[in-house]
Parts: sequence; C-alpha cells; structure tokens
Amino acid sequence: MSDVRHLLDEGERLDPARLRALQLERLRATLRHAYANAPFYRESFDKAGVHPDDCRTLADLARFPFTAKADLRAHYPYGMFAVPRERIRRVHASSGTTGRPTVVGYTDADLSMWADMVARSIRAAGGRPGDTVHVAYGYGLFTGGLGAHYGAERLGCTVIPASGGMTSRQVQLIQDLEPRIVMVTPSYMLTLLDEFERQGVDPRSTSLEVGIFGAEPWTERMRQEIEERFAIDAVDIYGLSEVIGPGVAQECVETKDGLHIWEDHFYPEVVDPITGEVLPEGEEGELVFTSLTKEAMPVVRYRTRDLTTLLPGTARVFRRMRKVTGRSDDMVILRGVNLFPTQIEEIVLRTPGVAPHFQLRLTREGRLDALTVRAEARPDATAGDRDSAAHAIAAAVKDGIGVSVAVEIVDPESLERSVGKIRRIVDLRSRP
Ligand code: DLL
Repeated sequence: MSDVRHLLDEGERLDPARLRALQLERLRATLRHAYANAPFYRESFDKAGVHPDDCRTLADLARFPFTAKADLRAHYPYGMFAVPRERIRRVHASSGTTGRPTVVGYTDADLSMWADMVARSIRAAGGRPGDTVHVAYGYGLFTGGLGAHYGAERLGCTVIPASGGMTSRQVQLIQDLEPRIVMVTPSYMLTLLDEFERQGVDPRSTSLEVGIFGAEPWTERMRQEIEERFAIDAVDIYGLSEVIGPGVAQECVETKDGLHIWEDHFYPEVVDPITGEVLPEGEEGELVFTSLTKEAMPVVRYRTRDLTTLLPGTARVFRRMRKVTGRSDDMVILRGVNLFPTQIEEIVLRTPGVAPHFQLRLTREGRLDALTVRAEARPDATAGDRDSAAHAIAAAVKDGIGVSVAVEIVDPESLERSVGKIRRIVDLRSRP
C-alpha cells in the first residue's frame, strides 16, 4: 500500500478523539442554526419536545426527529433554507420519480466545502494535481457534473466537462485529450465500453487509469468487469443532493474496501428502517445523515433510504460504509422474498454468454407479482449458450435469493443503454 499520509488534508489527519470532539461541536452548532433559522426544524424539534441544548453527546442526536424526502417536497422550493435568499449562490434539484422535485441550495461557504470534499474524494481515488479528469456525469440541476467539476478544479486538475450523452464524441475526447481519470455512472461506463468496441478501439489501450463511479448502486462484480475491460482502477463515490451531492463518501484506491464517509462534515447513523432505532456498527440498515457544516440547507437526521452498513475506518480515520445494497424504494418484494437489483447484477455478471446489461420486468399474474430478468446475449453466444445462461441465472436466483423468476435472454444491443443513472426496474403491474 502506498503511503499517502503526507497528502492528507487537516480533517483527514485528525485523531479519533479530536474528530469526535469536532463533530460534537459542529453538531451542536448545526442544531442551533437549524432551530433558529429554518422554521421547519423549529417546528419539528418543538413537536418532538427536544431543543438543541439537549444535545450534549453525539449519541444524543438519536433524540432528534428524522427528516424525510417528503418534508423537502412539502416545503418546496425554498422552505428548508436557513439563510436569506440573497446568500444562496446556487441551487440544484433532483427530479425524483414522482411528484415535485426537491430543491437544495448552497452558500459560498457550502460550495467551497463541497469542492473541498470532492477534491478529497478524487485524491483518495488516486487523483493528483495536474491530472486530467473527464467528467461524464450530467451537468445541470443534477449535482454530479458540477460537483465533480469544481472538486477536480479544486484539486488542481484539468477538467474535460463532457457531461452525459453524445457517446461517440466521449470516446473521441478520451482518445484525443488523454485523461487519466474518468468520473461517470458505472452504467454509462458500460455504454462507453460498447462504443469503444464499435469504433474498433481497444478500451484497455486508453490513457485512463482510474474511474470514479457513483450515483447508482453497483457491485463488486461490476467493478471486476470494468477494471478488466478498461484496465483501470474502479472506485466508488457516494453522495446525494440533499446532503451536498457527490463527495459525501469515497472509496480509497489503496484498499477498495468500502467508502470512507467524510465524517468531519457529514455525520452518519444507520437505523432500522422500520423502527428507526440506531443500529450498532456492522449491522445493515438505512443510512441517515446530519450535516455538520452546511449553512444554506442544514439537514438533521435525513433519511437517505439507502441500505448499507457502517464499518470502522481503515485507510482513513473516518468510518466506512459498505457499498450500497440498494435503495429501499428499489426493493422488490416477490412472494414474501426481498430482492434488490444488485443481487441480480452479481448473478448476471458472473454468467457466461451474457453481456453486463440487464433489466428487471415486474408484472402481475392474477394476484401474484412476477419478475422477469431480461439479460442481453453476448454477440458470440450460440442458441445453446443462451439456453444455458437462462437456466444458470434462474437457478442462481432460486438458490441464492430463494425465489423463482423467469429469465429471457434477449438479442445483443436490444436493451436500452444508460446515459446517466440507469433504471433497472420496469414496473408493468397495473396499479389498483
Ligand atoms: O446521485 C449524487 C452523486 C453524483 C453521487 C455523482 C455520486 C456521483 P442524487 O441525484 O440526489 O445525487 O441521488 C442520490 O443516488 O441516495 C443513492 O440512492 C444513489 N447513489 C449515489 N451514489 C451512490 C453510490 C447523486 N455510490 C441517490 N452507490 C442516493 C449507490 C448511490 N447508490
């Protein structure tokens, strides 16, 4: 393992005791700021019978009420802000699948902290000042593009602001401008892979050495696939707009053992998704965040709906989160069995004869839900290979997850390709 200690910033050099003390100080300041300046938090704390002064230890945070996405929607657009409008320098929004978008805002100091955290993330991924970074996360209201962009600049990198889409041009830019790092969703990286091959360019021959992939769940199998096909290191970046955007947590390239949460700015808890009870380290549950330094839109105990496990620090002092299993919203309950798209990804990607492209189709037969896994055949797969792949996937799902699904092996290049966040589940159940 290379020694990167001399590269770390002040926050990353804290010892555990000083980190906890800093977190408590910042937590108390955040609770006071939210209570004094955001009417939503004053109301919700009052209703729960708690006051910022009740927070004397980090564990006291558990006495404070949760904040949900629905709260942000109900206070659309500016109702969660804790500073006057003229201090808001930028807004971003996430469209969500249903209903109103949620709007988030940043002061100058928030934007600067965000750039620092993304710079720290890129450095943890192996990026260094002077590197060229190709950003293929979408630019716009989505936080991916601009978030990655300013972080890369903050680190002292050269940025190629490619944004998403226009796939053939992306391939050309990568060949001509020779970036060392690419930042993109893992599913769009697969779309780029197809395009490299279509243009007859060996994806292993490019200047790329590191890929920083996030914005959607992806598995160890997907890491293997991408690393092998591109001859790069693939690491995971996590974030959400409500907390800041990308750069809440990042995997270190030297260990690739889950994502270090930048805990000096974002305080994590993992709770039981049903009871809301705080779970000990090592148990899987729903990730909850409290911002520690945000001005424009502090969040207190924000429920991400992402399922993961907190683990102790390794390459950094900060705790880690295991790669996200999925969002509770994406969990399919099939005849009483819980199933996540990531579990299917693991299976499809290890099955010979199929490409790393799949889709889950949910239908209703009578009163029962049914799931069809649609996976794409590799171009060289014979009819026999397709049959064996279908059987292998169905058997692996039955054995590993405990439920029967139908499997359809479809023609190469027939499934929709990702240009950003991929939609794995196509829900064709007619709602009652
Ligand atoms: O996706 C921010 C981001 C951009 C993160 C680029 C990483 C890279 P939202 O659009 O608000 O923000 O969506 C946030 O995406 O709650 C997770 O469900 C999912 N997500 C983000 N990163 C990961 C990841 C951005 N590394 C939601 N693994 C989150 C799994 C992720 N899921």
